[in-house]
Amino acid sequence: MALIAPSLLSANFLKLEQDCEMLNISEADWYHLDVMDGRFVPNISFGPMLVDFFRKATTKVCDVHLMIEEPEKFAEQFKNAGADNLSVHIEACRHLHRNIQQIRSLGMKAGVAINPHTPVSDLADVLGDIDLVCMMSVNPGFGGQKFIPHTIEKIKQLRKMIDDRGLNVLIEIDGGVTLENAPMILGAGADVLVAGNTVFKADDPLGMIRKLKAL
Ligand code: DX5
Ligand code: ZN
Repeated sequence: MALIAPSLLSANFLKLEQDCEMLNISEADWYHLDVMDGRFVPNISFGPMLVDFFRKATTKVCDVHLMIEEPEKFAEQFKNAGADNLSVHIEACRHLHRNIQQIRSLGMKAGVAINPHTPVSDLADVLGDIDLVCMMSVNPGFGGQKFIPHTIEKIKQLRKMIDDRGLNVLIEIDGGVTLENAPMILGAGADVLVAGNTVFKADDPLGMIRKLKAL
């Protein structure tokens, strides 16, 4: 069964407490927390301070997606804020293997995020050292964008790489996930669905999470 990770980026930040309460009683598995620095991506969101608030608001897994340059400077702060999973972008890390070692030595699950233009083959030499691939199915920076169809092909390729080597790495799909395209995404081999707009702009977010979980 797929894991569902609503992205709080699409929540109403003046009503975060209500949204957290909704998520906590929902069938959602993870909180997906999108950190943006205005350098790696053309948008700024929030940092460790807010992650700390989310940590205290839930017992669910806090899945932190760093869309920032030099993530090594902040990994410890996100650990202290309560991140369970920390994903860094392959495109932002000159010494990716060192970033992964750092994240794991801090006691977090290590994720690597890849942009739509980055081939999954670039993950070959770190795949055995990570827990999660956050595959972007939109260009990172904003919620509410349209799913890039080529992602399906990339999921299939990555699924094969993982299975051929008998690895235990989760494939998380991030961006433009809807109730309509989710079956195809899962059919291609994804394990985790991130959903921002689909959950938080729904008339009935709880019902939407239930429907995604039931797929
Ligand atoms: C985009 C973020 C995503 C985004 C997903 O940069 O990484 O997590 O919030 O939002 P939707 O599901 O609306 O595309
Ligand atoms: Zn994200």
